[in-house]
Amino acid sequence: MSASTPPRTPPKTYSVKSFGCQMNVYDGERMAELLAAEGMRPADEGAAADLVVLNTCHIREKATEKVYSDIGRIVKDGRENGVVPLIAVAGCVAQAEGEEIMARAPSVRVVVGPQAYHRLPEMVAEAAAGGRATETDMPAEAKFAALPKRRKVGASAFLTVQEGCDKFCTYCVVPYTRGAELSRPYADLVSEARALVEGGAREITLLGQNVNAWSGEDEKGRSVGLAGLAEELAKIEELARIRYTTSHPADMDDALIEAHGSNPKLMPFLHLPVQSGSDRVLKAMNRSHTAASYLRILERVRAARPDIALSGDFIVGFPGETEAEFEETLQIIAEARYAQAFSFKYSARPGTPAATMDGQIAAEVMDDRLQRLIAALQRDSLAFNKASVGKRCAVLVERKGRHAGQWLGKSPWLQSVHFTGDAALGDLVEVDLVEAGPNSLGGRLVARAAA
Ligand code: SAH
Ligand code: SF4
Ligand code: F3S
Repeated sequence: MSASTPPRTPPKTYSVKSFGCQMNVYDGERMAELLAAEGMRPADEGAAADLVVLNTCHIREKATEKVYSDIGRIVKDGRENGVVPLIAVAGCVAQAEGEEIMARAPSVRVVVGPQAYHRLPEMVAEAAAGGRATETDMPAEAKFAALPKRRKVGASAFLTVQEGCDKFCTYCVVPYTRGAELSRPYADLVSEARALVEGGAREITLLGQNVNAWSGEDEKGRSVGLAGLAEELAKIEELARIRYTTSHPADMDDALIEAHGSNPKLMPFLHLPVQSGSDRVLKAMNRSHTAASYLRILERVRAARPDIALSGDFIVGFPGETEAEFEETLQIIAEARYAQAFSFKYSARPGTPAATMDGQIAAEVMDDRLQRLIAALQRDSLAFNKASVGKRCAVLVERKGRHAGQWLGKSPWLQSVHFTGDAALGDLVEVDLVEAGPNSLGGRLVARAAA
């Protein structure tokens, strides 16, 4: 594995490309901060970087294949320009297929798993000296302690509070790529949140593969769950909004449900994947909830926060899924009323129990079910957005729009809202929602500072 190359000048510029979930985006930001702390700077837009970090996702086959095509393209472009950058593969594919990558792609000089990337700078140095470095150790404790303090961030920032997953849904690679569930300590999270707010964040999204399984001890040694953490973070005055994702129905505890009614900074949005509406399929998926128990949770959340926007994930074509079982998914959608959702065709992942189950579903059947599912979900997101027209709400300004004077931001319900007028990035403005499409809303600016 350690076929060496001639030493090269240590890289001065980097680019980090993240794929996959928001936790990977968070990891990508932290890797960039580590490299910057070593004196490297981000490559200019469009310019080739000396070091390219591909922060990869393993969740579905397509995502994994992308790594190899990206490596091929970087090598080809590099050869045309006369220098092939130093390539590092990070993220979940690095964890799952590190050795294969090293064997298949000689131009990859560093492979680093999601729980080991605090070692990236030294591994890059080793590779620049002509070697090759692999690190896929699992426990995440050491990583967070070794990361630099957060500095400048956008108006909306991510904060990983929990890593890994012990749920072992039968289709999913995450328990293998991210390891066992681990909650970061309360005090570390409070101080990272403060640093994010000092760096410019007005909204923090707490992240975890099972974020609502987070638990810790507060400063008095009392045990707290995610609701307790959100309550503490709400005391940070300049922090206006708190969100969290992704939640598992089994960990939706009473305190978190109540927090939606009592913590005014906790936004009215809940991403609670159900995956399927069929109890037989849910059982085969090892989801530990039924369609009915899921709907009961929603009822309670809506009692605490009637305007909550619901989001979900769905898989069509799980092994053995019949037409009638798929229709149960359409039925739960009609009952749950999603504001937005993500739907996927089942992808058999090597090493997971579902990959070898009987009754793998033909591609055409999956395509057909996915189309029908998406049509139903879009109908509901359009209905949700249309029902928002006429509301006045706060919008957190996150980006400039395409047109002069146009801004893009998010409503409390995580809808994208565009408007024109006098505002700046990071403002929390007051907007009247005036028109709605399935994916965004148009607003009219009422006041630069939201009430
Ligand atoms: N921890 C989160 C989600 C992790 S992955 C949760 O449990 O909700 C994000 C989504 O990808 C999952 O919710 C699921 O819908 C989808 N997914 C995971 N494995 C998949 C597979 N093998 N094929 C298709 N979709 C998959
Ligand atoms: Fe994967 Fe299930 Fe864990 Fe989510 S809860 S990460 S779907 S194993
Ligand atoms: Fe993908 Fe890993 Fe996230 S597999 S979805 S990047 S946890």
